[in-house]
Amino acid sequence: MVKMISIHSSRGGTGKSLIASNIAAILASEGRNVALMDFDFRAPSLLTVFQARNAVRNWLNNYLDGKAKLEDVMNDMTEKYKTKGTLYVGFANPDMEAMREMARKDRKWQMRALRRVMAMKQELDDKLGVEIVIIDTSPGVQYASVNAVVSADISVIVSSLDQLDIEGVERMASDLYKPFEKKTCILVNKARPHMFVSEESKRNLLDEVSGHFSQPLVAIIPCYCDILLAQRVSLFALDRPEHPFTWALREVAKRLETLAE
Ligand SMILES: Nc1ncnc2c1ncn2[C@@H]1O[C@H](COP(=O)(O)OP(=O)(O)OP(=O)(O)O)[C@@H](O)[C@H]1O
Ligand SMILES: [Mg+2]
Repeated sequence: MVKMISIHSSRGGTGKSLIASNIAAILASEGRNVALMDFDFRAPSLLTVFQARNAVRNWLNNYLDGKAKLEDVMNDMTEKYKTKGTLYVGFANPDMEAMREMARKDRKWQMRALRRVMAMKQELDDKLGVEIVIIDTSPGVQYASVNAVVSADISVIVSSLDQLDIEGVERMASDLYKPFEKKTCILVNKARPHMFVSEESKRNLLDEVSGHFSQPLVAIIPCYCDILLAQRVSLFALDRPEHPFTWALREVAKRLETLAE
């Protein structure tokens, strides 16, 4: 049975797209059949990460609109990235008019889209043999993100330790996750690197984090200059398999697979 994992946050820029794309790449390189979806219709970014503009036959926007077939919106990246398992990616249309059009969709359209997301999960399994679906979302409670969260078997909330992020996560947890009874976990990203230098500072960090969030914690990942300095947008985990960021995400991927059971 296919498992769906959504990567969400309360505010922007916490690292969702980086984490979603690299977890998908890691799982595919370990032999899983993976589909990664860009549900950030407000500001798509996966097309840039995968440098796939010329390869796209159709957009996820059109699938949700009932105007495209799943086979035409899932782009097979397996050969390009030489992964052991298959890696499909569904892209959101980054053209200005397409982004505006998605922003105008009403509640009724979004309810239909939710049914399509549910159907998509089954179709991915039946037609393409996908085992794990990773959904990158927009921050906050936009309809597309809510649809992703509602359809997911587990939702990861990526948060920094900024006060605004922490309070945003709490609000979202009580207003969105609790009513839907969603399995949720927190991934703290971009933690201050100096908190990782000694065992004592790591303990302090863990205490600080556990005091902030009521959901289970899946990882605390520091801010790495190597990521900021990476020359081009790419799949960091595939370029740097021995980097601590990649090790951390490998561990996260393993835990998420178990949690989604
Ligand atoms: N642990 C990290 N260390 C260093 N840089 C990071 C880390 N995590 C994310 N970043 C960088 O932070 C920036 C924002 O990341 P990303 O685009 O993945 O965030 P996002 O949550 O998807 O943003 P948005 O809400 O706008 O979609 C990127 O430049 C990314 O490379
Ligand atoms: Mg993003």
